[in-house]
Amino acid sequence: MGEVLLRLEGVSKSFGGIKAVRDVSLDVRRGEVHVLLGENGAGKSTLIKMIAGVHEPDTGRIVVDGKEVRIPDTRTSESLGIATIHQELNLVPELSVAENLTLGRTPRKFGLVDRRAVRKYAQEAIARIGLDVDVNRKVGTLGVARQQMIEIAKALAMDARILILDEPTAALTRTETDILFDVVRDLREQGVAMVFISHHLDEIEEIGDRITVLRDGTAVDTVSAGAGEAELVRLMVGRSIDDLYPRRRGEVGDVVLNVEGLNQSGVFEDISLEVRAGEVVGIAGLMGAGRTEVLRAIAGADSYESGSVTVHGKRLPKKDVAAAVGRGVGLVPEDRKNSGLVLEASVAENLGYATLRSTGRAGLADLRGQRRRSDEVAQQLRIRMASLDQQVRGLSGGNQQKVVFGRWSMAGSDVLLLDEPTRGVDVGAKVEIYELVNAITDAGGGVLLVSSDLPEVISMSDRVLVMAKGRIVGELTAEEATQDAVMSLAVKEVDSSRVR
Ligand SMILES: Nc1ncnc2c1ncn2[C@@H]1O[C@H](COP(=O)(O)OP(=O)(O)OP(=O)(O)O)[C@@H](O)[C@H]1O
Ligand SMILES: [Mg+2]
Repeated sequence: MGEVLLRLEGVSKSFGGIKAVRDVSLDVRRGEVHVLLGENGAGKSTLIKMIAGVHEPDTGRIVVDGKEVRIPDTRTSESLGIATIHQELNLVPELSVAENLTLGRTPRKFGLVDRRAVRKYAQEAIARIGLDVDVNRKVGTLGVARQQMIEIAKALAMDARILILDEPTAALTRTETDILFDVVRDLREQGVAMVFISHHLDEIEEIGDRITVLRDGTAVDTVSAGAGEAELVRLMVGRSIDDLYPRRRGEVGDVVLNVEGLNQSGVFEDISLEVRAGEVVGIAGLMGAGRTEVLRAIAGADSYESGSVTVHGKRLPKKDVAAAVGRGVGLVPEDRKNSGLVLEASVAENLGYATLRSTGRAGLADLRGQRRRSDEVAQQLRIRMASLDQQVRGLSGGNQQKVVFGRWSMAGSDVLLLDEPTRGVDVGAKVEIYELVNAITDAGGGVLLVSSDLPEVISMSDRVLVMAKGRIVGELTAEEATQDAVMSLAVKEVDSSRVR
């Protein structure tokens, strides 16, 4: 490991009454991947935002190349050679891939935007991470995983000496994560200093050199990679967790959800599946396999051309979310920003949105009962917040995800469609979410679980369906579903002549 490029000395940051970061010191060296690990709300993003020029520390010093610096804005951070990939995507959906990649540094010729140079720059930037998209496409038309790859490409193209990656792999499947890690290894060779945040312990062990653990805003320890996952969990949550995937399998009952021959040309084809009471059915696949699209069609969020969706023996109308919700179908979508979370509203209000109608008595919303249930769910999921009245905007990323999940579990949905439900959620809270999944199936509900987290989808599902290019290409029992078995199905070439 080389010399120290970046050093934080006793930095602190508060928001109102909340001390998000307290007296943290750490250094990042040339050619090092320094991991920040901690539960949701521990202060990881707040810490890196002080380096990225989003927040200034209340106390403490930031030292770059041995000199104390002030970083009041993003521009200053970039001019110090620091590039940051933020946890929340910062792309402009209405602009093209190329425009997003060159935003703020648009190549010009004689004062005019040099379109050819913009395209060339963009193509090189995405080629570097093995991404194949049309750079003229509007970013808003791409899925979350591809948007995340573009965000990564944008930061990498800056040729920074210090690179900060705040949960860059949360939306990626293993295949894209591998590509990203190859790039990270290259950068390490070239002497770039990196700060890397992830909730995936296997990734941390794989790519990290040193790991600093944050708890409640305080740095509790810095350890070398190789400490072992169990030790990392203990440092992070202050206790050990024996079973990271506590799936409880019970009696399987009648079919609660039946999907037959669902088609939407160019998106998915001939999707037939059923979920029984008490069952968790997983759907695995690569980025772009069509998993999210299938869930959205079942939930009534998008339409389909032919086929049928039946819940408890009754057919659901197409593209009618209200009808689906009324029949107990809940969707926890993959994209938090468009998930119906109202950032300005409180935690209690957000948790209650799906229930207000069903719990209302004589047309009046049962506000008291709702508040009590919100409180229970918030405690069960350990949502870290100042109070139930805090705005959701002020919650950390993982805690926002818990609110989305909590809403549907509160609504008592008995057909739950989960799309990457634990993305960005820390290991302790994941276990809480899995316990809620168990509670739903114990009560006779059925769950359809889309997840790119292979250990999760394998360990929590009772059967795993594998999708590729818009089709279901295989089904594995819980016993058969190993990572290798799932991946070999997921990459198997299917007849793509009918699905574009
Ligand atoms: N702009 C803000 N306003 C109010 N509170 C904030 C703000 N930003 C962060 N916080 C609070 O600071 C604490 C730390 O949040 P931070 O986002 O740093 O957590 P994190 O470790 O990145 O969590 P996660 O794993 O969920 O991303 C949390 O209690 C959060 O609610
Ligand atoms: Mg964060």
